[in-house]
Amino acid sequence: MNATVAQASPRQVHWYAAFVTTLAAVGGLMFGLDVGVIAGAEQFIQHEFGITDGVLEHIVSSMMWGAAVGAALAAWFAGRFGRKRSLAFSAALFVVGALLSAAAWSPASLIIARFVLGLAVGIAAFTAPVYIAEVAPRQTRGAMISTYQLMITIGIFVAFLSDTGFSYIQGWRWMLGIIAVPGALFMVGVLVLPESPRWLMLKHRTADASLVLHKLRGDPDLVRDELAEIDQQMASPQQGWHLFLHNRHFRRAVGFGIAMQIVQQLTGINVVMYYAPRIFAGMGYDTTLQMTFTAVVGLINVLATLIAVVWVDRIGRKPILYGGFTAMAVGLAVFGWLMYAGMTGTTEHVVAIAMLLLFVVGFACSAGPLAWTLCSEVQPLKGRDFGMGVSTVTNWVFTGIVGASFLTLLNTLGSAHTFWLYAALNALFLLFTFALVPETKGVMLEHIERKLMRGVRLRDIGV
Ligand code: BGC
Repeated sequence: MNATVAQASPRQVHWYAAFVTTLAAVGGLMFGLDVGVIAGAEQFIQHEFGITDGVLEHIVSSMMWGAAVGAALAAWFAGRFGRKRSLAFSAALFVVGALLSAAAWSPASLIIARFVLGLAVGIAAFTAPVYIAEVAPRQTRGAMISTYQLMITIGIFVAFLSDTGFSYIQGWRWMLGIIAVPGALFMVGVLVLPESPRWLMLKHRTADASLVLHKLRGDPDLVRDELAEIDQQMASPQQGWHLFLHNRHFRRAVGFGIAMQIVQQLTGINVVMYYAPRIFAGMGYDTTLQMTFTAVVGLINVLATLIAVVWVDRIGRKPILYGGFTAMAVGLAVFGWLMYAGMTGTTEHVVAIAMLLLFVVGFACSAGPLAWTLCSEVQPLKGRDFGMGVSTVTNWVFTGIVGASFLTLLNTLGSAHTFWLYAALNALFLLFTFALVPETKGVMLEHIERKLMRGVRLRDIGV
């Protein structure tokens, strides 16, 4: 290494880069905490306010609408004010939203509070992965993005655990309010983060960008190369909207991103993530068991995501999706059948819980992480921000639709038919995978882009 380099040793530089990316990934943890927290709280909220399932659906889903708006705003905000300010703003909103939720005096005020929380989630959901991709060293970039996914599931799990604790005192206000604490810690953490070098370059602050990169990379040669690379990329700036209007092939990529996110949400995963205790209540369990099983669901979600992180680059996208959709379809179909036939014995109960867990494992190993991976892999460089922005918004809009319709579906179709509906959709997604999804394992992004832009069928733009 050049002697004039940094005062910091390579070890220190390594730890600093790891510290920065991990801290940003805490944005994912916040995202997960906010997704998971309502599951344990919703039945107590319904009880205290004496509201119908319809109003409750609005309380649950207002966060998702907020997140859709937040994700749409974030692309603009993070571009104009920077990644760091965007993360700090979302952290502040996390705190405000959590405190407002805990203090809610009416269903309407809770809906507004959760919308604010949603804005925070949406902004973090867009900004954190962008920031991580921009500051992480190239060799660990993929792993760091996966870490972010893992953080989401850990956040959901921790929220389930905390809900379990507070369920003994029926403390839904505690459940919702306690999130202000990690929110405040995240805010303090964000303040020590450096601004993204790529964004600094975009604002023509080359000297600042170079300073940050020195701290993150240490080696001056690496810094020089990376600055040159960013410079070169800026020569062909992001032209999302323009490209979308004028290039049919880019529209195909954006359309694929939208479809992939709709598919991810219509698997029904968030029915379980947002309403697990209610599903267990429907099986006849008391609050303690409802919450215990919900925590198990959260843990299995984390563990299965870990498996996916390891497997994805070995087995390939399509086989994993086939396996995942099959597991989800079978799990839900059998679960629906048990609901239909009535669960009298212990065996039925054990099988039902096993089927629900099979469904969660199927999702967490496949469509969970892969929807995000595939969406970003098919976007051409020039339109990647735009394509990812559109797919993130779609994800939240469809999370909202699923969250806002589950109880209505239960009340109109009955639980067996509701789960069969989702089982049928998962079976349909096997066809979707066959007909549209490309195999992108180990394929260079430039290669995918070239084929896409040449008009090759979507399913053939990979290997
Ligand atoms: C999905 C979320 C879901 C989470 C569950 C994510 O990939 O986008 O909607 O709640 O996985 O782990």
